[in-house]
Amino acid sequence: MTVLPTITRPEINLSDIQGFWSRPDAEKEAAFALLRAEDPVSYHPFVNMSLVDTEGLYAVTRHEDILHVSKHPELFSSAGGITTIDAPPEFNEFFGSMIAMDDPRHARLRQLVSAGFTPRTMKRLEDAVRRIAAEIVDDVAERGECDFVTDVAAALPLRIICDLMDVPASQHGYVFDQTNVVLGAGDPEYTPEGTDIVTALLTAGGNLAALMDEVARSKEGGTGDDLTTALINAEVDGERLTHAELASFFVLLVVAGNETTRNAISHGMMGLCANPDQRAIWAADFDGIAPTAVDEIVRWASPVTYMRRTTAQPVTLAGAQIGAGEKVQLFYWSANRDEAVFADPYRFDVRRSPNPHVGFGGPGPHFCLGAHLARREITVMFREIFGRLGDLEMTGEPEMLLSAFIHGVKHLPCRFTPSR
Ligand code: HEM
Repeated sequence: MTVLPTITRPEINLSDIQGFWSRPDAEKEAAFALLRAEDPVSYHPFVNMSLVDTEGLYAVTRHEDILHVSKHPELFSSAGGITTIDAPPEFNEFFGSMIAMDDPRHARLRQLVSAGFTPRTMKRLEDAVRRIAAEIVDDVAERGECDFVTDVAAALPLRIICDLMDVPASQHGYVFDQTNVVLGAGDPEYTPEGTDIVTALLTAGGNLAALMDEVARSKEGGTGDDLTTALINAEVDGERLTHAELASFFVLLVVAGNETTRNAISHGMMGLCANPDQRAIWAADFDGIAPTAVDEIVRWASPVTYMRRTTAQPVTLAGAQIGAGEKVQLFYWSANRDEAVFADPYRFDVRRSPNPHVGFGGPGPHFCLGAHLARREITVMFREIFGRLGDLEMTGEPEMLLSAFIHGVKHLPCRFTPSR
């Protein structure tokens, strides 16, 4: 039985980055538990928030209500944006991807992009995941210590997406830095000094889009097995992706696919270190336990804290009356601890089944397009870790990302017996 710290309703304002999101995870979990029990669709007036066109946000914290919202995109639109801030129109050029669109525009793009995931590109991907995970462990194995986040967890998803799109290896570090700016925008470590957040985001988005444009141009008329070539040629009802759409999709992929998977792997490692019994269970039968362990890692990590919707008309949700045009935020992290759905929700249980977590989103048109790839990456990375860094342990406290949107770990010092 887990005892959560005490927190009271007046101390909880989910729009307050400095005041609320800088608290330890256990206090955030306690806040979610209180909201689920007493105020499941709660209102949070904005404090210290710029680039917003409403007075506050509604937080949905129960699992069943999040499923309801996800299933009703006609009432809860994605087109207004997916984070609390209302991006200025100039953001659309680089960040105007399908995740922030409604059908039929969203469906058209999702079909086109899905058509790019051909058996050839999938084969390339499977091979790449195995090869790159082994290379990453090769690089650290002899050292006996490393920063697990930057040296292990972060390296895999980035290199996979770059390899998949055939971005040259010389540019991988550059892509890594630009995505950090995009998703770590509230954290001083990632915002270049002397720059405001909007300029930093626009510059990073523009840089990523320009790089993709260059890669796409070099692929025209080619027949390679990379995703860029497949996407340039993908056709649905005689339509193709424009260069701008391809560039925005790349920005979406590197942003959606990198930070999320890296944080899942980092939280997963922390969960295993804190629960040696679970680590032993998985180690004893890696392949047998992997399917449930990987989903438990995603539930545990909840790498995407929330996604936002905007009400298309006045609605009533769990008794709360919400006007049209209001921000409604689906707190997946809270739903993944909902005691009405998960037995002993604060227990990290590698055999948990069933595990209807919403780490990849709820059932709806925007359900994560990369869920299959993410599960593969997590499985293969832990297979390498169990096989070659089996006694890895943490040597210090993790350093957490200051963000309401991403449940991120920035640094995690660790050591293990060196090997060749
Ligand atoms: C553990 C890793 C991951 C987590 C936790 C995660 C989580 C999510 C979530 C919560 C959503 C939004 C769902 C919604 O709004 O209903 C989403 C959408 C998306 N994800 Fe992931 N994701 C992960 C990995 C990936 C990877 C590896 C890729 C691609 C390579 C990817 C690509 C996408 C795309 C393209 C969308 C937008 C889909 C759409 O709007 O139709 N994700 N993901």
